[in-house]
Amino acid sequence: MASPNRRDVMLGGGVAALAAWGAGQAQVLKPAIVEDSGASLRARAAQRRLLYGAATSTYQLGQSDFAGALAREAGILVAEYEMKRDAIEPVRGQYDFAAADALAQFAHVHGMAFRGHTLVWHASNPRWLDAAAFAARDERLLTSYISAVAGHFRGRLQSWDVVNEVLLPKDGRADGMRLSSWLSAFGPSYVDLAFHAARAADPHALRVYNDWGCEGGAPENDTFRRATLRFLETLLERGVPIQALGLQGHLAAFGSKVDQKKLRTFLDEVRAMGLKILVTEHDVDDSGGPSDIALRDRAVADASRRFLDVVLDNSATIAVLTWGLSDRFLDAPGFRAVLSGYRPRMLPLDADLARTPMWSALASAFDQRR
Ligand code: XIL
Repeated sequence: MASPNRRDVMLGGGVAALAAWGAGQAQVLKPAIVEDSGASLRARAAQRRLLYGAATSTYQLGQSDFAGALAREAGILVAEYEMKRDAIEPVRGQYDFAAADALAQFAHVHGMAFRGHTLVWHASNPRWLDAAAFAARDERLLTSYISAVAGHFRGRLQSWDVVNEVLLPKDGRADGMRLSSWLSAFGPSYVDLAFHAARAADPHALRVYNDWGCEGGAPENDTFRRATLRFLETLLERGVPIQALGLQGHLAAFGSKVDQKKLRTFLDEVRAMGLKILVTEHDVDDSGGPSDIALRDRAVADASRRFLDVVLDNSATIAVLTWGLSDRFLDAPGFRAVLSGYRPRMLPLDADLARTPMWSALASAFDQRR
């Protein structure tokens, strides 16, 4: 059976497609042929004590030219899909690690770090994790899953996004938390439960709270940054074993620009709390601008550089990952609201694996890090 493409995965059929593919396939991804590693993003980041990498999927690694480019450019990987709960536990109590293990093995073979994404999220959950399951308010719904999954990968991960997208100030709560099934079932302390369970299962993986909304220059981003600082302070006061903040880094080339001064002040406060900083899902949406590709590429590179110059100027920043390495896999509708006929150019390599101006922006930002 052909491997599930992004369209399958993104349009909800991913679990069945992935499971069928996994069941029919030896979950071993061929090692890639790596050349020209001297000037790679991986090498440049490493020279500045940073990790650079990208999100990927088993179906992407089935394309050998892409696998070679990824092995050359990335020093850390994260699963775009295969470590979400609907991929790992499609049937309650039955864990399927085959695809995630294949990604971890690919990273291991190529001397790359590997990070986990994500243990607790309000989305990408299996159908059985429904209102009835939450209504029991049994904390094992959370803690047993984390123990099983973080335990399975124990010692193999650089970090975990323990909880993902916990805040959403526009939901109106004083603490800025997102209204979710996790919150309604267990209250704000579901976050505490998750971090403690993650530490118990794998004390080696850096424990990250990952979210979006702190990067931009719009008023809602000011609100998001204030809520995030308050949230982090509260967790630390409660003795929650959080170690890092993950900035997803989804930017818009033709939207609200990063306010470098506000972002710098915010990240200085995060570092002052003793937390590390990771950019976890960086890409730059180039829709809504001119059709001219050179202009789009320039705006993408400028937006990326404007953001990374501030983030990388903070000594607490340890990693930058882009949400994909190549535009090749961005043609499906859905998550990126891609309009028909428009092919996004949001990542360091284009669909033909050529380095884009965004690649150069990343390379320069790494090279200039003090
Ligand atoms: C998305 C992936 O890109 C899709 O392929 C998947 O079907 C759903 O998740 N923020 C996150 C990521 O933290 O996990 C999301 O990734 C994008 C938004």
